[in-house]
Amino acid sequence: MLTLGIESSCDETGLALYDSGRGLLGQVLATQVDTHQAYGGVVPELAARDHVRKLPALLRRLLSESATTLGAIDGVAVTAGPGLVGALMVGIGWGRSLAWALGVPCLGIHHMEAHLLAHRLTPGCSGPCFPFVALLVSGGHTMLVLVKQVGNYQVVGRTLDDAAGEAFDKTAKLLGLGYPGGPAIEAAARDGVPDRYRFTRPMMNRPGLDFSFSGLKTQVRDKVGSVSVSAQARADIAAAFQRTVAGALAGKCRRAMEATGAADLVIAGGVSANASIREALDDMARQIGVRTHYPPLNYCTDNGAMVALAGNLRLREPSQHNTNLTPRPRWSLEELSPAEPV
Ligand code: KG4
Ligand code: ZN
Repeated sequence: MLTLGIESSCDETGLALYDSGRGLLGQVLATQVDTHQAYGGVVPELAARDHVRKLPALLRRLLSESATTLGAIDGVAVTAGPGLVGALMVGIGWGRSLAWALGVPCLGIHHMEAHLLAHRLTPGCSGPCFPFVALLVSGGHTMLVLVKQVGNYQVVGRTLDDAAGEAFDKTAKLLGLGYPGGPAIEAAARDGVPDRYRFTRPMMNRPGLDFSFSGLKTQVRDKVGSVSVSAQARADIAAAFQRTVAGALAGKCRRAMEATGAADLVIAGGVSANASIREALDDMARQIGVRTHYPPLNYCTDNGAMVALAGNLRLREPSQHNTNLTPRPRWSLEELSPAEPV
């Protein structure tokens, strides 16, 4: 079965083709960084308009690069939420129209489930064993999920305020490093001395699996106000911030692995592209004898491939075909139902 995946929930327009037998046939991506950079963050209306402009040419490019025709597509999968309502509406309207014209089913995909499954895009991925724990760290979400099977999710920890990616973005803004903040902080931190400044790891002195990152942002703001912010000081603060986030994520993941007894930890979402965070999680995993699994680097941030893959799993189930798709800007993973037998 060949599935076309469409991602348009925020500031990336992504399309991909995933085949049950042959895997990923191709993917194309257009980023809106240039559009939003001047505003220091995503402007929802501009995001939606840009998706409208880019989708037709992207589909033509995808079909040509993967030597596929529209007639070969067996189903369309489109991100239905969570995300920006206008941006979601564009993808859904477009995906539904295309599916109708082709006479194939259309399915709404949960954006965070697509992230959670993206490690399956790793060539030769042997995959984690169920049940496993997933750490989802994106611009809008930070959560720990106990995954009993595909579609059976229990959220066991979440952020009480800012998401990890949001903390990177806000901290980068405070440091004048630009948008998007994650890659900017990671690049600046390479020249930084992480020990020069010390920040308190958020929530580590409290029991449980929840996160909080707004206090860390305040610690950075206080530091920025109290030192002369030379390029070196910016790099040092970026390095200390990144190390603190990595420590907080690793600490909570350790607790989650110990509490659930799971042997596999999947990490996904834009922040999982960060090398220092990967290193901290891998170190922790080695210490307690569990395995880590990541998506390939180019599928950590938003993309169409993860949506095509998630759709491919779910389109095999006729009960999941949805002719009445509506955008779901807020949508809990726990509302999903299993996609395949355990
Ligand atoms: O998953 P994603 O592409 O979009 C959402 O679903 O939100 O995640 C975007 C977030 C942004 O906050 C961005 O700053 C962060 O992921 N990010 C990173 C890195 N690359 C992207 N954070 C830390 N290090 C990175 N290398
Ligand atoms: Zn995302």
